[in-house]
Amino acid sequence: MKEKILQKFGEVFGGDTGASVYFAPGRVNLIGEHTDYNGGHVFPCALTIGTYGVARQRADRKLRFFSMNFDHLGVLEGSLDELKPDKAAGWTNYPKGVMWAFEERGFEIPYGMDLLLYGNIPNGSGLSSSASVEVLTGFILRDMFGFSVTNQDLALIGQYSENRFNGVNCGIMDQFAIAMGKENHAIFLDTADLKFEYAPIRLEGAKIVIACSNKKRGLGDSKYNERRSECETALAELQEVVGINSLGDLTEEQFEQYKSAIKDDVRRKRAKHAVYENQRTVKAVEALKAADIAQFGRLMNDSHISLRDDYEVTGAELDALVEAAWEVDGVIGSRMTGAGFGGCTVSIVKTDAIDGFIEKVGAEYLKKIGYAADFYVVEIGDGPRVI
Ligand code: GLA
Repeated sequence: MKEKILQKFGEVFGGDTGASVYFAPGRVNLIGEHTDYNGGHVFPCALTIGTYGVARQRADRKLRFFSMNFDHLGVLEGSLDELKPDKAAGWTNYPKGVMWAFEERGFEIPYGMDLLLYGNIPNGSGLSSSASVEVLTGFILRDMFGFSVTNQDLALIGQYSENRFNGVNCGIMDQFAIAMGKENHAIFLDTADLKFEYAPIRLEGAKIVIACSNKKRGLGDSKYNERRSECETALAELQEVVGINSLGDLTEEQFEQYKSAIKDDVRRKRAKHAVYENQRTVKAVEALKAADIAQFGRLMNDSHISLRDDYEVTGAELDALVEAAWEVDGVIGSRMTGAGFGGCTVSIVKTDAIDGFIEKVGAEYLKKIGYAADFYVVEIGDGPRVI
């Protein structure tokens, strides 16, 4: 991979002297969905697939970008003096947003760069290709200019850029999972205070299988922001009757006790998901620690049902994949992962059942939805690095 992208860098930008090669992973969330902007817990892990980057410092303030995934766009240019979101700038709004966010934090970026990217995360799949590009850009800036920031800062800067430059009010989960990733471990993160713990994932005879619906998120971003504000309103209503900082502060019992303070049925369902999903995540990690993988799987299934019925972010495609998965012998648990509205599902499948799983779920999906899904058997990898 390194040779291939270095060669391409030379073809596009001329020569490869002084260029360094980097990698940042994608992520999959095992459980804890739509809890990260509600002060709850999440349980994601970084993957061995992700975004590769080749970068070389320039002597001026120009920015030149090229993506092997969008090679028809050719070289896209920009400047450190014009770091503004611009629809026409397409994917380069992600690296530009991170440069802008560094400057907002008081770091002065002295020189521009030539940057080539190649990602092997399926695009728009909900495996966080954009957060991967953000963390990668931050990592490159730190390496190139010696900025004193931790990996956790890289996550926060990435999230800030996504919120303020790219207009998606995402939580911290994706950037955190990517920046802090650790091989064979998932990250049990409390988004209320960013305390976290690495939990070893020992699946004894099973693997993580991702099924990509190939439905692009499309309107997903605006729906995402809508869910977020529904939760904020529900929280404000609950705060009239109980002293909490976030929905993540409530147990299921407390929610049942106070839920009538929420004036609208839809908002009540949204808040219920946030509260129950947070508690489910805590229980799932306990089950994993007790080596009770069957219970972990049941909680994954419950998570999907709640996202389908209460949070309403699944849609026909993700439901078709998950409901077909539940019917296959050897499936320990299956749910949608990420924001929803398209994207991927994550399943834990016994190793000897994987071929049958792909065949059966694939056929059922094609029959119901009319186009094919893609399947990836993934491994849990480390965070960003120089390669
Ligand atoms: C997207 C966001 C995350 C998180 C998930 C849903 O991936 O970027 O912050 O909210 O959706 O769990």
